[in-house]
Amino acid sequence: MDVEKSIPISPVQFAPPETLRIRPLLLKPQWMNGLSERMLVSHYENNYGGALRRLDAIRSRIATLDWTQTPAFEINGLKREELIAASSVILHEIYFDSLGGHGDNPPSGTEEPPAGLAQALERDFGSVKAWRTEFTGMAKALAGGSGWAVLAWSDRLGRLINQWAADHAHNLPGATPILALDMYEHAYHLDFGAKAAAYVDQVMANLNWERIGARYRLAIGEGADEDRLFLPYGAPAQEEARISAEELKATIEGDKASRPVLLDLCLPRDLSRRIDMLAGASMHAPSALERWIDELPRGRPIAVYCICGFQVSGTAVNKLRERGYDARALVGGITAWHAIGGTTVPLDTSTYEQAP
Ligand SMILES: [Fe+2]
Repeated sequence: MDVEKSIPISPVQFAPPETLRIRPLLLKPQWMNGLSERMLVSHYENNYGGALRRLDAIRSRIATLDWTQTPAFEINGLKREELIAASSVILHEIYFDSLGGHGDNPPSGTEEPPAGLAQALERDFGSVKAWRTEFTGMAKALAGGSGWAVLAWSDRLGRLINQWAADHAHNLPGATPILALDMYEHAYHLDFGAKAAAYVDQVMANLNWERIGARYRLAIGEGADEDRLFLPYGAPAQEEARISAEELKATIEGDKASRPVLLDLCLPRDLSRRIDMLAGASMHAPSALERWIDELPRGRPIAVYCICGFQVSGTAVNKLRERGYDARALVGGITAWHAIGGTTVPLDTSTYEQAP
């Protein structure tokens, strides 16, 4: 497939400068402790995705500005909105990356920080428990308003800090966020109503401390071999076996001859979670691969997607590539596709193999 370089997964390889690529969900939204899939996916697609789309639009507008002729109020407005949107994108990415279980397992609800980060929290707050009490107290104090509770590393202060933020753009200069807890109402209202404190406690029971610890190591310059932690579980390991939502969209909208064959794979148990699909895709059961694989054209690229881009599409892409097909898995699945504003059509299960 003649497309741009694939999505960078590591949090330090944020994005190529010209275009921001959406980051996939690393958590499994259907299996979290007391945080519903409906709320998490809505937040990811509409608020994170919305900030990303808004940032792209603002940057496109800024690129056309005549800086000597544009009124000050317009420059001020655009640069303010750019800062807010970019900060929202980054904080949402840290928020979602900080949640979830390990591999195919849901969060245990009892995980603790890894040793290096635990020692740093003890050093800077007295104990992990004292840090947690301060962090959750700060988050709960934002209830009724909005903002972020952020754990950040400051080189200048030489320590970890719990940083209050009343909006997306409220940050300590030079500090690197390690963990961000979204206290905007959209983050909790669907599940918790006005009970923001209950939401804070539930988020703390869903933290993925392995990834938070990796962010800390990266912030203090000790990170190494962290990329695997930021790759969706089950996604193909090789970059050339993955395609970003933005790349796929460009390919579909581009030259007709280079458009990929679209395969929508879904486990039988997950069919009830689906309402739509990409136009032109055919839907199949991954377990019936031997029944549908021979219908695939040899000479065309194949893009495979599932709900979030975990092992359903990843396993199938690995099998297709072993058999010589030019197959790639959509990073973040149809959820990432929604978040970039990709269009869909109602679900068509007419090609789906029924269980024997
Ligand atoms: Fe949010």
